[in-house]
Amino acid sequence: MSAPDPQAVNAMFARIAPRYDLVNRILTGGIDLYWRKLLTRRVAALHPRSVVDLATGSGDVAFALRRTLPGDCAVIGIDFCQPMLDQAMRRQDKKKVEPPIAFRQGDILQLDLEDQSADAVTISFGLRNLADRARGLAEIRRVLRPGGELIILEFTQPYRFIRPFYFFYLRRILPYLAGFLSGDLSAYRYLNQSIEAFPDREEISEELKTAGFLVKEATPLTGGIVCLHRGQSPESAKT
Ligand SMILES: C[S@@+](CC[C@H](N)C(=O)[O-])C[C@H]1O[C@@H](n2cnc3c(N)ncnc32)[C@H](O)[C@@H]1O
Repeated sequence: MSAPDPQAVNAMFARIAPRYDLVNRILTGGIDLYWRKLLTRRVAALHPRSVVDLATGSGDVAFALRRTLPGDCAVIGIDFCQPMLDQAMRRQDKKKVEPPIAFRQGDILQLDLEDQSADAVTISFGLRNLADRARGLAEIRRVLRPGGELIILEFTQPYRFIRPFYFFYLRRILPYLAGFLSGDLSAYRYLNQSIEAFPDREEISEELKTAGFLVKEATPLTGGIVCLHRGQSPESAKT
């Protein structure tokens, strides 16, 4: 599979935005809430004053961060797909989130953020969609302060023993179930193809090192179908 085309990715998320949360919960059986909770705990352990959630989508991670972190920690959510952000902003209004999360439209490959301005950056199920991962990681390093951390949740290649069942689910069940629920079969064909084509956790750790991060963690979750990666911007970091 070639690198994702940003315009096609943006258009696809715009189409599925209204049903994104519902389909997610059903496809993962709710385990995604547990994955996001682990990510949020890692962030909280850093005691950050500012966190940027990239590829924030409809805001699941940003809301979990806001619930967990103290009110004086700024939470910013960035996504390039306006309809996904509209969902996030609707949820924020409905839940009357205080202090509010600053949802902004922006491209991870060209972040409109100051150098070394964030204590932590999160990206959950967004790395896989980038047209140029190396450039995205370089941008994230640029905006992280020295000692700050990037925490990633992403699909990965699972343990061998579950692969036959997992790939059967990905290829034969997921696209049709999600296609039925969302009315968009092609979006969920992209999902299974992009998951299968994505590098394993060792390769992502190598990419993090190449981008200048210190690799702190690569923890497989749920039979290794998802990995939680942590990379730290070195204390002596220069961008
Ligand atoms: C699978 S969703 C993940 C949403 C959310 N983080 C979650 O865990 O549910 C991926 C999101 O990445 C966004 N995205 C993909 N490429 C992007 C880019 N270059 N810049 C900003 N957002 C991007 C898409 O618009 C989409 O909302």
